[in-house]
Amino acid sequence: MGTLKFGPVTLKHGICLAPLAGVSDYVFRSMARRFGAEYTVSEMVSAKALCYEQISRRQPTPNRVRTAPLAAVRREELPMAVQLFGSEPNFLAEAARLIESGEYRGASGEVPPSAIDINMGCPMAKIVGNGEGSALLKDPVRAAEIVRAVTRAVSLPVTVKMRIGWDADHICAVEFARRMEDAGAALVCVHGRTREQFYAPSADWEQIARVKEALSIPVLGNGDIFSADDALRMIKETNCDGVMVARGAQGNPWIFAEIAAALEGRTYTPPTLAERISVALEHTERLVKEKGEKIGIAEARKHLAWYTHGLRGSAAVRADLMRVESPDAVLPLIKRLAE
Ligand SMILES: Cc1cc2nc3c(=O)[nH]c(=O)nc-3n(C[C@H](O)[C@H](O)[C@H](O)COP(=O)(O)O)c2cc1C
Repeated sequence: MGTLKFGPVTLKHGICLAPLAGVSDYVFRSMARRFGAEYTVSEMVSAKALCYEQISRRQPTPNRVRTAPLAAVRREELPMAVQLFGSEPNFLAEAARLIESGEYRGASGEVPPSAIDINMGCPMAKIVGNGEGSALLKDPVRAAEIVRAVTRAVSLPVTVKMRIGWDADHICAVEFARRMEDAGAALVCVHGRTREQFYAPSADWEQIARVKEALSIPVLGNGDIFSADDALRMIKETNCDGVMVARGAQGNPWIFAEIAAALEGRTYTPPTLAERISVALEHTERLVKEKGEKIGIAEARKHLAWYTHGLRGSAAVRADLMRVESPDAVLPLIKRLAE
């Protein structure tokens, strides 16, 4: 795996953080970046909601703005992609245009992303029920139309994150990815599972290898990378141009440093307990700063559970962490682990 290039984006190794709805917000992404993720993707953003929110903002009494913050990109985050989901080419194209032009922005200091990514992998019933996410795997004509429409609407590169098919009887990875390339996609990321598999059992990397062989645009491999060894094996077995890590980065932003060290033949030193605790606390404090105490603490609980997972005595502390109400209450609890 050498340098990865698509559109104006150049990545040294192609070590990427995957989109994670409810998880990969600004704070999570910046932690990943600090420890070596070269590229990140926003949480998935509803194209339709972004467009409707935009319309309502032009009215005298604007609705609450919920979707736009998910699509916000700060300069220091580049290169990163904003991921859109939807099923209607026009809405996706308009949402992408709003994002590139910045017309939807309310806050200051935001910039356009490096790419627009289209979600063709989400397996959730309420998403596929609308023909969105992995439902697009069953409608390749519409999926290609979406890529064409978004490509026409923006000058940013358009990328696709897909699964390998709907179910075991309908594996379509190679054919589908080829169509996305023909429609103008600049890169595809393949999660080696079908929609029916959701997140288990283990990912089928063979399909990623086949897509890589069939396409001339870069291919990112995704699914079950929880260590540098997994990443090296993924690269060896699939010849992918880069790797995307999702669950393996939860509570473990150091995984990106571990992968970079392995690719560069350097020794990797895992974080000490003290470092782990200090980063977990910083993550909590920054969530509170970004989202306010109520939401910040509520969201921090799951991150704290991940950061402390596997540490000696963590099960007992975790139960208490799940009930914390303020950032000040977190420190004494976590310190119990350090004792
Ligand atoms: C909680 C959660 C949220 C996710 N949200 C998204 C999302 O918004 N967009 C997307 O394309 N994939 C999403 N995914 C899928 C991941 O990006 C990734 O494809 C999948 O977890 C497999 O990678 P992993 O084995 O490294 O976790 C999500 C996965 C999880 C577990």
